Amino acid sequence: MAPTELDAALLPGCLVLSAEAGWNQTAEDWSVFFARGTVFGVVEDGRPVATGAVLPFDGGFGWISMVLVTPARRGRRLGTRILETCLEELSRLGRVPVLDATPAGERVYRPLGFRPQFGLTRWQGPGGGGVPAGVRAMAAHDLTGAIAADAHAFGAERAPLLGGFLGRAPEHAFALKNGAGFVLARPGRVAVQVGPLAAEREDAARLLLEAAVGSARGPVFLDLADRWESLAAWLEERGFARQRPFLRMARGREAPFGDPSRLFVAAGPEFG
Ligand SMILES: CC(C)(COP(=O)(O)OP(=O)(O)OC[C@H]1O[C@@H](n2cnc3c(N)ncnc32)[C@H](O)[C@@H]1OP(=O)(O)O)[C@@H](O)C(=O)NCCC(=O)NCCS
Repeated sequence: MAPTELDAALLPGCLVLSAEAGWNQTAEDWSVFFARGTVFGVVEDGRPVATGAVLPFDGGFGWISMVLVTPARRGRRLGTRILETCLEELSRLGRVPVLDATPAGERVYRPLGFRPQFGLTRWQGPGGGGVPAGVRAMAAHDLTGAIAADAHAFGAERAPLLGGFLGRAPEHAFALKNGAGFVLARPGRVAVQVGPLAAEREDAARLLLEAAVGSARGPVFLDLADRWESLAAWLEERGFARQRPFLRMARGREAPFGDPSRLFVAAGPEFG
């Protein structure tokens, strides 16, 4: 069956699909794709059995995510057909396709021309521990600076996304007292997801990371770029463990967008 654009009325079925894969997204996360992007899928008996979402950004590229096939339908090229539909949409919009691939997804993406840019690791661990000196709770007026810092690091301005995260969980949002840098976090289905975190230096990023983890209760997930070895060591000391790798890939392009030297924690594989 050919993938079609899904209506937002199918959001609950999409959430069942991502929960079935053990993923962390909530209805709020899925609603971003319905409101600001396009969700494609294959529906059987009124239920999505395969999905893929496209989120165009203003930096010349667009994000592909939520590529999911229900276990009973895997291995029949549904994942490939969903991907091809997402690629057609981004080609129509004139955007380079970018995504954060799981090892399973990588097998589908490489034959379609995706090339690796850099690795990230999903870390999983306990929240709590308090907020260090040097950072402060982010206020609404800090959002403009955070959007600019994020755009520099990520490569595209994501004002609605970041504003949405701040609105969802202001208690997990922090800015540096002196200098550019911020962190946001949001409640997920199984854990608080920390990210994005952008800063000018690793020691500043460490303070922001400490604040976001310190403000959380219960389990925390965060996707740290692999180049930040001292932050990885700090996470291990803090009781965090590696859960899974992700590979940032773009179709036909190895050079990352944005400035990876400012990008510490991604917003998650669904948003980049
Ligand atoms: C990844 C996923 C979407 C693939 O869906 P699918 O419909 O089974 O994929 P396809 O049938 O189109 O497979 C495409 C190719 O990848 C290969 N492949 C897919 N999953 C594989 C796996 N786990 N191990 C080995 N090869 C795999 C297939 O053999 C096929 O290769 P071929 O063209 O040489 O036959 C599906 O396994 C899934 O939902 N996984 C869990 C969620 C996930 O990780 N999504 C990716 C996010 S980046």
